[in-house]
Amino acid sequence: MPKIILVEGDITKQRVDAIVNAANSSLMGGGGVDGAIHRAGGRTILEECKQIRADRYPDGLPTGQAVATTAGDLHATWVIHTVGPTYAKSEDRSHLLASCHTESLRVADEQGARSVAFPAISTGVYRYPIEEAATIALSTVAESNTAVKEVRFVLHGADAYAVFERALRAQMR
Ligand code: APR
Repeated sequence: MPKIILVEGDITKQRVDAIVNAANSSLMGGGGVDGAIHRAGGRTILEECKQIRADRYPDGLPTGQAVATTAGDLHATWVIHTVGPTYAKSEDRSHLLASCHTESLRVADEQGARSVAFPAISTGVYRYPIEEAATIALSTVAESNTAVKEVRFVLHGADAYAVFERALRAQMR
């Protein structure tokens, strides 16, 4: 089980082996974390995303799956792009959000990453309630069988940090 730490801040500033991107299936960038990572990391990230689309995912990266690219100018070696589920009241998609975390850690293991930073996947544009997302993310990582030593959840703002802190404490009981 990796050590889990919570950080309030900007994921593009983290000094870790791999930074996880809350991407969309096109892998062509977007807003939120996706936009921040591509802006800070530079065009080499997008170039590798285009190559991955051409070689392996012509129809786009499916929800819940993950791929690695260079981290470009970020203080990391890799960016691991994963596609979170959009929230739907009518359908339980928690398994897809869990898969984002297990697949990102599997890719991290493939690359030999020992420290990984996650954002709060799906809790922005994809409207997943952050309380639910925090519980899924933290329990999935805690139960994962990975060689990654440190997992850092990087939360944007005090409110998001407080939600993850409560969820982590509840998990520890
Ligand atoms: N560092 C850390 N967290 C951030 C940052 C940042 N620089 N910027 C935003 N966040 C937080 C948001 O506040 C939210 O809690 O990341 C979480 C995820 O929000 P989004 O980035 O909107 O990601 P998501 O909800 O998974 O939606 C993905 O949004 O940006 C597009 O291309 C992306 O289509 C995809 C969709």
